[in-house]
Amino acid sequence: MKGLVLSGGSGTRLRPLTFTGAKQLIPVANKPIIFYGIEALVNAGVKEIGIVVGATAEEVNTVVGDGSRWGVSVTYIHQEAPLGLAHAIKISRDFLQDESFIMYLGDNILKNGIRDFVTQFQHDQPNALILLTEVTNPQDFGVAVIDESGAVKKLIEKPKEPPSNLALVGVYLFDQAIFTAIDHITPSWRNELEITDAIQWLLDNDCRVLSHRVKGWWKDTGKPDDIIEANLLVLEGINPCEKGTCIDTEVTGRIHTGKGSSIEKSIIRGPVIIGENTKIINSYIGPFSSIGDDAVIENSEIECSVIMQGARISNVQKRIDRSIVGKNVVIRVNDRSPRTHKFIIGDQSYLEIIR
Ligand code: TTP
Repeated sequence: MKGLVLSGGSGTRLRPLTFTGAKQLIPVANKPIIFYGIEALVNAGVKEIGIVVGATAEEVNTVVGDGSRWGVSVTYIHQEAPLGLAHAIKISRDFLQDESFIMYLGDNILKNGIRDFVTQFQHDQPNALILLTEVTNPQDFGVAVIDESGAVKKLIEKPKEPPSNLALVGVYLFDQAIFTAIDHITPSWRNELEITDAIQWLLDNDCRVLSHRVKGWWKDTGKPDDIIEANLLVLEGINPCEKGTCIDTEVTGRIHTGKGSSIEKSIIRGPVIIGENTKIINSYIGPFSSIGDDAVIENSEIECSVIMQGARISNVQKRIDRSIVGKNVVIRVNDRSPRTHKFIIGDQSYLEIIR
Protein backbone atom coordinates (compact mmCIF):
# COMPACT_ATOMS: atom_id res chain seq x y z
CA MET A 1 0.00 0.00 0.00
CA LYS A 2 1.23 3.51 -0.83
CA GLY A 3 1.04 6.53 1.44
CA LEU A 4 0.11 10.08 0.48
CA VAL A 5 1.11 12.83 2.91
CA LEU A 6 -0.42 16.26 2.33
CA SER A 7 2.07 19.02 2.97
CA GLY A 8 0.76 21.84 0.77
CA GLY A 9 -1.95 24.20 2.01
CA SER A 10 -1.74 27.83 3.10
CA GLY A 11 -1.39 27.56 6.87
CA THR A 12 -3.13 30.93 7.33
CA ARG A 13 -4.19 30.09 10.90
CA LEU A 14 -0.57 29.66 11.92
CA ARG A 15 0.68 33.04 10.74
CA PRO A 16 3.19 34.56 11.28
CA LEU A 17 5.03 31.23 11.69
CA THR A 18 3.90 30.15 8.22
CA PHE A 19 5.14 33.36 6.56
CA THR A 20 8.66 32.01 6.84
CA GLY A 21 8.15 28.27 6.76
CA ALA A 22 5.88 25.28 6.21
CA LYS A 23 3.51 24.50 9.07
CA GLN A 24 4.30 20.80 8.70
CA LEU A 25 7.91 21.58 9.64
CA ILE A 26 7.06 23.36 12.90
CA PRO A 27 8.69 21.31 15.67
CA VAL A 28 6.68 19.41 18.24
CA ALA A 29 8.99 17.97 20.91
CA ASN A 30 11.84 19.13 18.63
CA LYS A 31 10.66 17.03 15.66
CA PRO A 32 8.97 18.42 12.53
CA ILE A 33 5.24 17.65 12.65
CA ILE A 34 5.33 15.89 9.26
CA PHE A 35 7.81 13.30 10.64
CA TYR A 36 5.06 11.94 12.92
CA GLY A 37 2.88 11.18 9.89
CA ILE A 38 5.73 9.68 7.86
CA GLU A 39 6.72 7.50 10.82
CA ALA A 40 3.11 6.34 11.28
CA LEU A 41 3.05 5.24 7.63
CA VAL A 42 6.44 3.54 7.90
CA ASN A 43 5.30 1.69 11.05
CA ALA A 44 2.22 0.51 9.18
CA GLY A 45 4.50 -1.09 6.56
CA VAL A 46 4.29 1.55 3.81
CA LYS A 47 7.39 1.63 1.57
CA GLU A 48 6.43 4.25 -1.03
CA ILE A 49 5.29 7.67 0.13
CA GLY A 50 4.11 10.55 -2.04
CA ILE A 51 4.29 14.01 -0.47
CA VAL A 52 2.02 16.70 -1.91
CA VAL A 53 3.81 20.03 -1.69
CA GLY A 54 2.92 23.61 -2.56
CA ALA A 55 4.65 26.94 -2.01
CA THR A 56 7.00 25.48 0.62
CA ALA A 57 8.11 22.55 -1.58
CA GLU A 58 11.83 23.31 -1.41
CA GLU A 59 11.93 23.54 2.36
CA VAL A 60 9.90 20.34 2.84
CA ASN A 61 12.18 18.55 0.36
CA THR A 62 15.33 19.75 2.20
CA VAL A 63 14.10 18.59 5.61
CA VAL A 64 12.40 15.31 4.60
CA GLY A 65 14.80 14.25 1.81
CA ASP A 66 14.39 11.08 -0.22
CA GLY A 67 13.03 8.93 2.63
CA SER A 68 16.23 6.88 3.03
CA ARG A 69 16.47 7.77 6.74
CA TRP A 70 13.30 5.68 7.21
CA GLY A 71 14.20 3.10 4.58
CA VAL A 72 11.36 4.20 2.25
CA SER A 73 11.16 6.09 -1.03
CA VAL A 74 9.62 9.56 -1.13
CA THR A 75 8.19 11.13 -4.29
CA TYR A 76 7.24 14.82 -4.33
CA ILE A 77 4.03 15.83 -6.08
CA HIS A 78 3.55 19.49 -6.83
CA GLN A 79 0.14 21.08 -6.25
CA GLU A 80 -0.07 24.42 -8.04
CA ALA A 81 -2.40 25.91 -5.38
CA PRO A 82 -4.22 24.63 -2.27
CA LEU A 83 -7.29 23.52 -4.20
CA GLY A 84 -8.47 20.99 -1.64
CA LEU A 85 -7.72 17.57 -0.20
CA ALA A 86 -9.55 15.78 -3.02
CA HIS A 87 -7.60 17.87 -5.54
CA ALA A 88 -4.36 16.68 -3.89
CA ILE A 89 -5.48 13.07 -4.54
CA LYS A 90 -6.49 13.87 -8.12
CA ILE A 91 -3.05 15.24 -9.01
CA SER A 92 -1.36 12.24 -7.35
CA ARG A 93 -3.00 9.66 -9.59
CA ASP A 94 0.18 8.91 -11.60
CA PHE A 95 1.98 8.16 -8.36
CA LEU A 96 -0.88 6.20 -6.75
CA GLN A 97 -1.89 4.37 -9.93
CA ASP A 98 -4.95 2.25 -9.24
CA GLU A 99 -3.86 0.88 -5.89
CA SER A 100 -5.42 1.37 -2.48
CA PHE A 101 -3.65 4.05 -0.46
CA ILE A 102 -3.53 5.87 2.86
CA MET A 103 -3.92 9.64 2.85
CA TYR A 104 -2.38 11.33 5.90
CA LEU A 105 -2.73 15.08 6.50
CA GLY A 106 0.80 16.33 7.14
CA ASP A 107 -0.22 18.48 10.12
CA ASN A 108 -1.87 15.67 12.12
CA ILE A 109 -0.40 13.60 14.95
CA LEU A 110 -1.92 10.37 16.25
CA LYS A 111 -0.59 8.88 19.47
CA ASN A 112 -1.06 5.26 18.51
CA GLY A 113 -0.23 5.43 14.82
CA ILE A 114 -2.36 3.81 12.12
CA ARG A 115 -1.51 0.11 12.12
CA ASP A 116 -4.91 -1.09 13.43
CA PHE A 117 -6.59 1.08 10.87
CA VAL A 118 -4.65 -0.46 7.97
CA THR A 119 -5.34 -3.97 9.30
CA GLN A 120 -9.09 -3.25 9.38
CA PHE A 121 -9.00 -1.92 5.80
CA GLN A 122 -7.16 -5.01 4.54
CA HIS A 123 -9.58 -7.31 6.37
CA ASP A 124 -12.88 -5.61 5.43
CA GLN A 125 -11.86 -4.30 1.99
CA PRO A 126 -14.28 -1.36 1.85
CA ASN A 127 -14.02 1.42 -0.74
CA ALA A 128 -13.07 3.85 1.99
CA LEU A 129 -12.24 3.67 5.67
CA ILE A 130 -12.33 6.88 7.66
CA LEU A 131 -10.95 7.54 11.10
CA LEU A 132 -13.26 9.09 13.70
CA THR A 133 -12.86 10.48 17.19
CA GLU A 134 -15.28 11.89 19.76
CA VAL A 135 -14.96 15.64 20.24
CA THR A 136 -16.75 18.18 22.41
CA ASN A 137 -16.98 20.76 19.60
CA PRO A 138 -18.22 18.80 16.54
CA GLN A 139 -19.46 22.01 14.88
CA ASP A 140 -15.76 22.79 14.12
CA PHE A 141 -15.11 19.54 12.22
CA GLY A 142 -16.35 17.28 9.46
CA VAL A 143 -18.84 15.04 11.32
CA ALA A 144 -19.96 11.49 10.48
CA VAL A 145 -23.22 9.68 11.14
CA ILE A 146 -22.63 5.92 11.47
CA ASP A 147 -24.82 2.85 12.12
CA GLU A 148 -24.27 0.21 14.84
CA SER A 149 -21.84 -1.72 12.61
CA GLY A 150 -19.63 1.35 12.07
CA ALA A 151 -20.75 1.83 8.43
CA VAL A 152 -20.85 5.53 7.52
CA LYS A 153 -24.28 6.86 6.53
CA LYS A 154 -23.61 10.55 6.08
CA LEU A 155 -20.89 13.21 6.34
CA ILE A 156 -21.48 16.87 7.15
CA GLU A 157 -18.82 19.58 7.08
CA LYS A 158 -18.86 21.86 10.18
CA PRO A 159 -22.59 21.35 10.98
CA LYS A 160 -24.40 24.09 12.95
CA GLU A 161 -26.47 21.39 14.65
CA PRO A 162 -24.17 18.35 14.78
CA PRO A 163 -25.99 15.00 14.43
CA SER A 164 -23.14 13.24 16.30
CA ASN A 165 -19.93 14.07 18.15
CA LEU A 166 -17.79 11.94 15.81
CA ALA A 167 -15.27 14.12 14.02
CA LEU A 168 -13.20 13.07 11.02
CA VAL A 169 -9.52 12.65 11.80
CA GLY A 170 -6.99 13.52 9.08
CA VAL A 171 -6.19 9.95 7.97
CA TYR A 172 -8.17 8.11 5.29
CA LEU A 173 -7.85 4.83 3.40
CA PHE A 174 -9.21 4.54 -0.11
CA ASP A 175 -9.37 2.12 -2.99
CA GLN A 176 -9.55 3.32 -6.61
CA ALA A 177 -13.28 4.24 -6.33
CA ILE A 178 -12.18 7.57 -4.83
CA PHE A 179 -10.80 8.68 -8.22
CA THR A 180 -14.22 8.20 -9.83
CA ALA A 181 -15.83 10.09 -6.95
CA ILE A 182 -13.42 13.01 -7.33
CA ASP A 183 -14.11 13.16 -11.08
CA HIS A 184 -17.80 13.67 -10.24
CA ILE A 185 -17.57 16.46 -7.66
CA THR A 186 -17.26 20.21 -8.20
CA PRO A 187 -15.38 22.80 -6.11
CA SER A 188 -17.09 24.05 -2.96
CA TRP A 189 -17.89 27.68 -2.04
CA ARG A 190 -14.23 28.05 -0.96
CA ASN A 191 -13.12 26.80 -4.39
CA GLU A 192 -11.71 23.54 -3.03
CA LEU A 193 -12.40 19.96 -4.10
CA GLU A 194 -13.54 18.71 -0.70
CA ILE A 195 -12.71 15.20 0.46
CA THR A 196 -16.02 15.10 2.38
CA ASP A 197 -17.90 15.70 -0.92
CA ALA A 198 -15.95 12.87 -2.57
CA ILE A 199 -16.75 10.49 0.31
CA GLN A 200 -20.40 11.59 0.24
CA TRP A 201 -20.40 10.74 -3.49
CA LEU A 202 -19.19 7.23 -2.58
CA LEU A 203 -22.06 6.93 -0.08
CA ASP A 204 -24.62 8.17 -2.59
CA ASN A 205 -23.39 5.65 -5.14
CA ASP A 206 -23.65 2.52 -2.99
CA CYS A 207 -19.97 2.25 -2.17
CA ARG A 208 -18.91 0.83 1.21
CA VAL A 209 -17.54 3.44 3.57
CA LEU A 210 -16.56 2.14 6.99
CA SER A 211 -15.22 3.89 10.07
CA HIS A 212 -12.61 3.20 12.70
CA ARG A 213 -12.46 4.86 16.15
CA VAL A 214 -9.16 6.40 17.19
CA LYS A 215 -7.65 4.96 20.34
CA GLY A 216 -5.45 7.41 22.21
CA TRP A 217 -5.19 11.08 21.43
CA TRP A 218 -5.22 12.77 18.04
CA LYS A 219 -4.18 16.34 17.30
CA ASP A 220 -4.66 18.49 14.22
CA THR A 221 -2.00 21.20 14.62
CA GLY A 222 -3.79 23.86 12.57
CA LYS A 223 -3.74 26.65 15.20
CA PRO A 224 -1.12 27.94 17.68
CA ASP A 225 -2.86 26.47 20.74
CA ASP A 226 -2.92 23.09 18.97
CA ILE A 227 0.88 23.19 18.65
CA ILE A 228 1.24 23.82 22.41
CA GLU A 229 -1.24 21.02 23.12
CA ALA A 230 0.44 18.56 20.71
CA ASN A 231 3.82 19.40 22.26
CA LEU A 232 2.38 18.67 25.71
CA LEU A 233 0.85 15.35 24.59
CA VAL A 234 4.05 14.15 22.91
CA LEU A 235 6.25 15.19 25.86
CA GLU A 236 3.96 13.28 28.22
CA GLY A 237 5.32 10.09 26.64
CA ILE A 238 8.98 11.12 26.29
CA ASN A 239 11.79 8.83 27.42
CA PRO A 240 14.59 10.38 29.45
CA CYS A 241 17.95 10.68 27.70
CA GLU A 242 20.76 12.97 28.79
CA LYS A 243 23.51 13.65 26.27
CA GLY A 244 24.20 17.18 27.47
CA THR A 245 25.85 18.35 30.68
CA CYS A 246 24.13 19.60 33.82
CA ILE A 247 26.13 21.63 36.32
CA ASP A 248 24.78 22.88 39.60
CA THR A 249 21.26 22.20 38.34
CA GLU A 250 18.15 20.73 39.99
CA VAL A 251 16.43 18.25 37.67
CA THR A 252 13.10 16.57 38.39
CA GLY A 253 10.96 14.48 36.04
CA ARG A 254 11.96 13.21 32.61
CA ILE A 255 14.33 15.31 30.58
CA HIS A 256 15.89 14.77 27.19
CA THR A 257 18.99 16.80 26.39
CA GLY A 258 20.86 16.82 23.07
CA LYS A 259 24.59 16.52 22.36
CA GLY A 260 26.63 19.59 23.22
CA SER A 261 23.89 21.19 25.32
CA SER A 262 24.78 22.63 28.70
CA ILE A 263 22.60 23.54 31.63
CA GLU A 264 24.03 25.57 34.46
CA LYS A 265 22.65 26.87 37.75
CA SER A 266 19.09 26.15 36.61
CA ILE A 267 15.94 24.30 37.59
CA ILE A 268 14.51 21.87 35.04
CA ARG A 269 11.17 20.18 35.72
CA GLY A 270 10.30 17.57 33.14
CA PRO A 271 8.93 16.47 30.87
CA VAL A 272 11.25 18.76 28.93
CA ILE A 273 13.28 18.36 25.75
CA ILE A 274 16.36 20.45 25.06
CA GLY A 275 18.08 20.31 21.65
CA GLU A 276 21.74 20.11 20.64
CA ASN A 277 24.27 22.83 21.49
CA THR A 278 21.72 24.78 23.52
CA LYS A 279 22.73 26.71 26.62
CA ILE A 280 20.48 27.18 29.64
CA ILE A 281 21.97 29.46 32.26
CA ASN A 282 20.44 30.47 35.59
CA SER A 283 16.93 29.72 34.34
CA TYR A 284 13.78 27.73 35.08
CA ILE A 285 12.48 25.40 32.38
CA GLY A 286 9.15 23.95 33.47
CA PRO A 287 7.01 21.00 32.33
CA PHE A 288 6.00 20.53 28.68
CA SER A 289 8.69 22.80 27.24
CA SER A 290 10.65 22.06 24.07
CA ILE A 291 13.79 24.11 23.45
CA GLY A 292 15.33 23.67 19.98
CA ASP A 293 18.98 23.38 18.93
CA ASP A 294 21.49 26.26 19.27
CA ALA A 295 19.24 28.29 21.60
CA VAL A 296 20.40 30.35 24.59
CA ILE A 297 18.14 30.85 27.61
CA GLU A 298 19.62 33.02 30.33
CA ASN A 299 18.12 34.36 33.59
CA SER A 300 14.63 33.48 32.34
CA GLU A 301 11.61 31.30 33.12
CA ILE A 302 9.81 29.17 30.54
CA GLU A 303 6.94 26.70 30.88
CA CYS A 304 4.68 24.73 28.51
CA SER A 305 6.16 26.38 25.42
CA VAL A 306 7.82 25.64 22.10
CA ILE A 307 11.06 27.58 21.65
CA MET A 308 12.64 27.00 18.27
CA GLN A 309 16.18 26.70 17.00
CA GLY A 310 18.57 29.59 17.60
CA ALA A 311 16.20 31.60 19.85
CA ARG A 312 17.91 33.80 22.46
CA ILE A 313 15.94 34.67 25.56
CA SER A 314 17.52 36.64 28.38
CA ASN A 315 16.46 38.23 31.65
CA VAL A 316 12.74 37.45 31.14
CA GLN A 317 11.96 36.60 34.73
CA LYS A 318 8.23 36.83 34.41
CA ARG A 319 7.43 33.33 33.14
CA ILE A 320 7.00 32.74 29.41
CA ASP A 321 4.00 30.41 29.36
CA ARG A 322 2.05 28.61 26.57
CA SER A 323 4.12 30.45 23.97
CA ILE A 324 5.63 29.65 20.59
CA VAL A 325 8.90 31.42 19.80
CA GLY A 326 10.16 31.08 16.21
CA LYS A 327 13.66 30.43 14.89
CA ASN A 328 16.40 32.93 15.82
CA VAL A 329 13.97 35.19 17.70
CA VAL A 330 15.55 37.44 20.35
CA ILE A 331 13.62 38.34 23.51
CA ARG A 332 15.41 40.22 26.26
CA VAL A 333 14.60 42.46 29.17
CA ASN A 334 16.85 45.45 29.85
CA ASP A 335 16.97 47.29 33.15
CA ARG A 336 17.77 50.68 31.74
CA SER A 337 15.68 53.90 31.82
CA PRO A 338 13.33 55.07 30.44
CA ARG A 339 11.32 51.88 31.01
CA THR A 340 9.79 51.35 27.60
CA HIS A 341 8.83 48.42 25.36
CA LYS A 342 10.74 48.10 22.10
CA PHE A 343 9.24 45.75 19.49
CA ILE A 344 10.36 44.70 16.02
CA ILE A 345 7.65 42.18 15.21
CA GLY A 346 6.63 40.74 11.85
CA ASP A 347 3.18 40.98 10.28
CA GLN A 348 0.38 39.20 12.16
CA SER A 349 2.56 38.42 15.17
CA TYR A 350 0.81 38.09 18.51
CA LEU A 351 2.20 39.67 21.66
CA GLU A 352 0.41 39.68 25.00
CA ILE A 353 1.80 41.42 28.07
CA ILE A 354 0.03 40.33 31.24
CA ARG A 355 0.57 42.70 34.18
P1 TTP B 1 -5.79 22.53 6.23
O1 TTP B 1 -5.28 22.72 7.63
O2 TTP B 1 -7.20 22.18 6.08
O3 TTP B 1 -5.50 23.81 5.36
P2 TTP B 1 -4.28 24.82 5.32
O4 TTP B 1 -2.97 24.11 5.52
O5 TTP B 1 -4.41 25.59 4.05
O6 TTP B 1 -4.43 25.76 6.62
P3 TTP B 1 -5.32 27.07 6.91
O7 TTP B 1 -6.75 26.60 6.93
O8 TTP B 1 -4.83 27.53 8.27
O9 TTP B 1 -5.02 28.10 5.85
O10 TTP B 1 -4.92 21.39 5.52
C1 TTP B 1 -4.71 20.13 6.10
C2 TTP B 1 -3.41 19.53 5.56
O11 TTP B 1 -3.53 19.28 4.16
C3 TTP B 1 -2.20 20.40 5.73
O12 TTP B 1 -1.07 19.59 5.97
C4 TTP B 1 -2.07 21.08 4.39
C5 TTP B 1 -2.57 20.03 3.41
N1 TTP B 1 -3.24 20.54 2.22
C6 TTP B 1 -2.70 20.29 0.96
O13 TTP B 1 -1.62 19.65 0.85
N2 TTP B 1 -3.36 20.73 -0.14
C7 TTP B 1 -4.54 21.44 -0.06
O14 TTP B 1 -5.09 21.81 -1.11
C8 TTP B 1 -5.07 21.70 1.24
C9 TTP B 1 -6.36 22.46 1.39
C10 TTP B 1 -4.39 21.25 2.34
